Amino acid sequence: MKIAIDQSAPSAIATALLVIPVIDNGDKTPAPELLSSDPVLQALAAPLIAAADLTGKFVEPVWLLSPAGVSAQRILFLGAGKRDKLCITELRKLAGAAARFAKSKNINSFVLILPSLLEAPAAAQAATEGVITGDFDVDTYRSDRKDQQLAEVTLAVASEADAGAVYQAIAEGAILAESQNLTRTLALEPSNLMTPTILAERARAMCEEVGLACEVYGPEKIKELKMGAFWSVSQGSEEEPRLVVMRYEPATAPAAPVLGLVGKGITFDSGGVSIKPADGMEKMKYDMCGAATMIGAMRAIALLKPNLRVISILCCSENMPDAKAQKPGDVQFAMNGKSIEVINTDAEGRLVLADGLCYARQLGATHLIDAATLTGAVVVALGYHNVGVFTNDEEFAEDFTASTLRTGEKMWRMPVDADYFDHIRSEIADIKNTGGRWGGAITAAMFLKEFVEDKPWIHLDIAGTAWLEEAKAWMPKGPSGVAVRSLVDFARHMPSVPK
Ligand code: BES
Ligand code: MN
Ligand code: ZN
Repeated sequence: MKIAIDQSAPSAIATALLVIPVIDNGDKTPAPELLSSDPVLQALAAPLIAAADLTGKFVEPVWLLSPAGVSAQRILFLGAGKRDKLCITELRKLAGAAARFAKSKNINSFVLILPSLLEAPAAAQAATEGVITGDFDVDTYRSDRKDQQLAEVTLAVASEADAGAVYQAIAEGAILAESQNLTRTLALEPSNLMTPTILAERARAMCEEVGLACEVYGPEKIKELKMGAFWSVSQGSEEEPRLVVMRYEPATAPAAPVLGLVGKGITFDSGGVSIKPADGMEKMKYDMCGAATMIGAMRAIALLKPNLRVISILCCSENMPDAKAQKPGDVQFAMNGKSIEVINTDAEGRLVLADGLCYARQLGATHLIDAATLTGAVVVALGYHNVGVFTNDEEFAEDFTASTLRTGEKMWRMPVDADYFDHIRSEIADIKNTGGRWGGAITAAMFLKEFVEDKPWIHLDIAGTAWLEEAKAWMPKGPSGVAVRSLVDFARHMPSVPK
């Protein structure tokens, strides 16, 4: 999709669709106000406002065909909500809603007026992110697929705005959104078409495209590295596991810190011998979202070029029941030598990540962030709205939180303290892989913490947020690509890195 800007009067811009944000200044009764001072548009809105047809309620659409005095074929007044709530995050959604509205009407190009309430470059970046993420479709394998991709979106920007800065912001927004969409594309694929081998190939293809170093390893290397926890998950599958290492190592970057991004890449989680109920099991094709998140993040990092070393490890495997599959009660040894009693083979994510985290440290990572669709318990705790954030380092987590606030990705801190460790003590081994029913997302994090040693670490449990269960006006139901933008923002702002 091409994104352009236009600094002339919006009513004079020729387009199939002109989108005008409308805020609601009302307290009890709506008091809509156009976020454009263009008198022609004001006049067109007046009767709609008088008749209370136009309210400004967030993402509420009101459209007119062949409006008089305007070069556009149609105009869409799109609710932007209350003035004091209108921020970059809301604008991103609004732009996504405009994109989805256009697509639903078979319109492949439109003009969006950027509210001058917000700084032009930041607004342009957010709008770019919104339209590109809004332009994502999930009907890949439908014969009647519409293929209604947007061709061009023009942002109408105030005449006094600095066009150079706005274009720069658009370019960055496009990189971020396209990377987020790559994550979603991978997540959407069914497990028969997205095996560990294919996932690793997709990572490699991305790396080749953007100039990252990439290594892909199979069972021999996993065994040679003594990744007994990772291997134990793979041993029950016909599909070979893949260990992926992606490296972003700019020549000018200091030797430290090295950010290590570790992703859970279970391409299908049947639960293994501790098999899951059939109802909803199809969703477990998206159990590779942690890995897909890191692929998206590494792409954007490679293109935006922060002055920081980043390595990423993906642990890709299926979790299947089979004659060779591991069994409850088995004891496995992770690459750091820790022994693990496997109580439930369905708690497999923490097993593959245990070795992934160890390996990231071995390769020189000084700071670790992992992303994983790790537990159903995080969905119980936080629902579908917040990523669960766990850490062993306050400062590291505070800096990361600053990134999530900039990107608008909702994340919530969860406790990590020693009391929870008691739940994962094993009688026969160092630890066991489940901690019982209560606080399940936290005991899972406690398990991972055993493999990060003294390194600052953040664990993102995206089980509830990686897949949107309900369509929003700005995004279809399906993979969300959550955490990509925050990880990239963090890599660009990591405080201990000299600029
Ligand atoms: N992949 C699942 C977690 C999950 C649940 C992801 C819902 C996305 C949506 C994970 O491997 C799992 O099965 N976790 C178990 C752990 C339990 C056996 C301790 C769970 O949460 O039930
Ligand atoms: Mn599982
Ligand atoms: Zn899983």
